[in-house]
Amino acid sequence: MIIVFSKGRIKSISTKDEGFKRNAIGVFDSGVGGLTVFREILKALPNEDCFYLGDTARLPYGTKSKETVTTFAVKNTEFLVSLGIKFLVVACNTAASAGLETIEEKFDIPTIGVVLPGAEKAVKVTKNGKVGVIGTRSTIMSGAYKAEIANIDPDVQVFQQPCPLFVPLAEEGWTENEVAHLVAEEYLAEFSAHGVDTLILGCTHYPLLKKAIQQAVGYDVQLIDSALPIAWEVKKRLEKMGIEREENERKYKFFVTDDPENFVRVGEPFLGHNIDDVEHVDIVV
Ligand code: DGL
Repeated sequence: MIIVFSKGRIKSISTKDEGFKRNAIGVFDSGVGGLTVFREILKALPNEDCFYLGDTARLPYGTKSKETVTTFAVKNTEFLVSLGIKFLVVACNTAASAGLETIEEKFDIPTIGVVLPGAEKAVKVTKNGKVGVIGTRSTIMSGAYKAEIANIDPDVQVFQQPCPLFVPLAEEGWTENEVAHLVAEEYLAEFSAHGVDTLILGCTHYPLLKKAIQQAVGYDVQLIDSALPIAWEVKKRLEKMGIEREENERKYKFFVTDDPENFVRVGEPFLGHNIDDVEHVDIVV
């Protein structure tokens, strides 16, 4: 039996049997963006089996309503749970902002979303108390980052900017070309006038465009990518629950809901190794 704190409530989660510990970590995003998180999880937890689901058939999430995104998030979780997972990482800010609470209510699996670790890191890093948040329209409208930051430190000022075109650019692999730089300039040149010293990349696709974003906001602004903080948080929580694996010849596997070709093309150079084991799954209603 594991006790998990979920949104201030205490929830007990049955580990079923000793085999629970051997289950994998499940990670999902709408596409390649969550690979930024998956990469850090693979590094931080070398003994854990891991599954990645990219819901490429329903991407983008960031332009859709909270209800629709929550339905997708629940479907993705059902699929990963059916494979046997011991921990779920919602590596999508849009899905975490819209549906984390619903997932925590519906499933007996310890779960973490990307929003909180990014918000915590930004509050820790800012020196002038002015933090910028960029994300999909849906994440920005949800106010999830504003709320988390206000909870941690109400004195920190938050300035937000949706950057919806970054997602198709990342999915296309157009991350460092002239178009990427022009789009970043257009979104962020004026935004820089707020004087933020810290900028949260509030969408897991955005770290792929880090160079263009950094150039547009200036090199004295610190970019916050939640991938590393979330990977360490997963490690910490597994250890705390006593379900981390000490030894294992780790396996990992990818699933996508649309044709794997583009996912492999864009994902491989980014992940830094081959995406051989990728399977198309039909979970789209
Ligand atoms: N990568 C996702 C996020 O972190 C969203 C991309 C999309 O719009 O599907 O918000």
